[in-house]
Amino acid sequence: MMNLSITSRRHPTSAQMIVFPVFEGAPGLTRQAKRADTSVGGRLKRLLADEKLTGKAGEAAVLHTEGAMAAKKLLLLGVGTAPLTADSARTFAANAVIEARKAKCRTVAVVLPSGLPSKLAPSIIEAMVVGAKLADYRFLGHKGAKAVKDEEDKTVTDFAIELADDPGESGTKALASGVSIADAINNARDWTNLRSNVCTPVYMSNLATWIAMVSKGKIVAHVYGRQDMEGSGLNGVLAVAKGSAQDPKMVRLTYKPRAKTKAKLVLVGKGVTHDAGGYCIKPADSMLEMHMDMAGSAAVFAAMSAIAALDLPVEVHGLVFLAENMISGDAMHNGDVLTMYDGTTVEVGNTDAEGRLGLADLLAYAAKNIPDATCVVDIATLTGACVVALGMKMAGFMSTDDGLAERLVAAGAAGGEKHHRLPLECEYDDLLKSKVADVKNVGGRWGGAITAALFLKRFVGSAPWAHVDIAGPAIPAGTSPTQQQEGASGFGVYTLVNLARSYTK
Ligand code: BES
Ligand code: MN
Ligand code: ZN
Repeated sequence: MMNLSITSRRHPTSAQMIVFPVFEGAPGLTRQAKRADTSVGGRLKRLLADEKLTGKAGEAAVLHTEGAMAAKKLLLLGVGTAPLTADSARTFAANAVIEARKAKCRTVAVVLPSGLPSKLAPSIIEAMVVGAKLADYRFLGHKGAKAVKDEEDKTVTDFAIELADDPGESGTKALASGVSIADAINNARDWTNLRSNVCTPVYMSNLATWIAMVSKGKIVAHVYGRQDMEGSGLNGVLAVAKGSAQDPKMVRLTYKPRAKTKAKLVLVGKGVTHDAGGYCIKPADSMLEMHMDMAGSAAVFAAMSAIAALDLPVEVHGLVFLAENMISGDAMHNGDVLTMYDGTTVEVGNTDAEGRLGLADLLAYAAKNIPDATCVVDIATLTGACVVALGMKMAGFMSTDDGLAERLVAAGAAGGEKHHRLPLECEYDDLLKSKVADVKNVGGRWGGAITAALFLKRFVGSAPWAHVDIAGPAIPAGTSPTQQQEGASGFGVYTLVNLARSYTK
């Protein structure tokens, strides 16, 4: 657990490490760093020169105070060019945590220069909190007690943001928002990193109940089982789960704000807790990471928990299906025809295109049961084609509504999650034609992310809709300041929270 605080300079810090920013283009000591430099006899200034610091983001130099100050170490840390933005602040805080851990300092104070643009101050504070907490995250869900303890002994326990100007109430609020959002993102990471033998549909549906419980009644969870789904005709979901010994679930989370509602959002998530591909079985290597095929559902759960924690004045409905795509004597066959929730018949051209079968049912369910939605957004690790197109550092999305598309891009950008819009090209609709049924669930080799979206579009109601494909960024290869370990990123949580926020203004 990391304690976060905002302090004012008048109180001397007790942190083991004090961090001073160095800005690119003007790589000198800040006024606050100069004061510390006096205490250490000019060694900080010499360090800056010796190390030829340019202020590039992530550049770091550490000085041992050797008893000259209460703090053990001083860190000069590159920020990039001034002024601070939410992005550079997030990365800066993440790098501060990374350097503190390297220097074996568990309590950190970051000293910001005066003159933060006051309008931006809350977003910068929130970004720093998120950056610090994401950088300190490690997945320990499958480690033994000793390894867990060893790792926990390395975490940063205190992270203080020292501001020259009084942060006021909005600063304190921004700090709390950052904590709620970062906790939600790290929860989504945990759930997505858990392997399929632990994180089953039942496990995920229990999480939904837990989310409702910790929300203290702000969120209500409904969990539906196989029989319920048979009763309502969610046959797309049921078809995905047919080959699995694990019971499928559908979860509906409802958040109704205490304040007057300004909008009604529907968030739909893909929750395939393991995607072996079904009879169109995946090669072993691809299967190895298919415990993450529920990242969309994790993003919906986590975003809703944060939205409730922030008490946002928007109504949010979360719909998630939870199932495994497996092989057995009961599994769906290639060529099966399903009658979906809305009556559309679907030829299963490929059993590995399972996500869209479940999502289609939920989109149709939303259209019928949650009328007058302001928007419907689904999020899913849906296609390898999207990863081929855009790589792992951004999501692809399609939307029927330009306004919603703009909001989504902005919501993502504010949280450091990139979204690139792809077309809903109706000329490709023909690729989904079936000889026996109304539509086929695959459109052939080319433009796979688009044909997947075109398939989904048939099940959408009249509300503005966006489909977000996070197959790439959900578990990106490599690391970054806010992602110190390969594995789940929690991508989508921040964007969905910011999207909900965009309707509160
Ligand atoms: N879960 C996969 C998509 C995926 C691929 C996610 C790689 C993360 C990394 C999805 O269910 C799938 O198998 N999609 C197929 C669709 C195809 C059969 C039309 C794909 O992308 O190959
Ligand atoms: Mn699949
Ligand atoms: Zn899948």
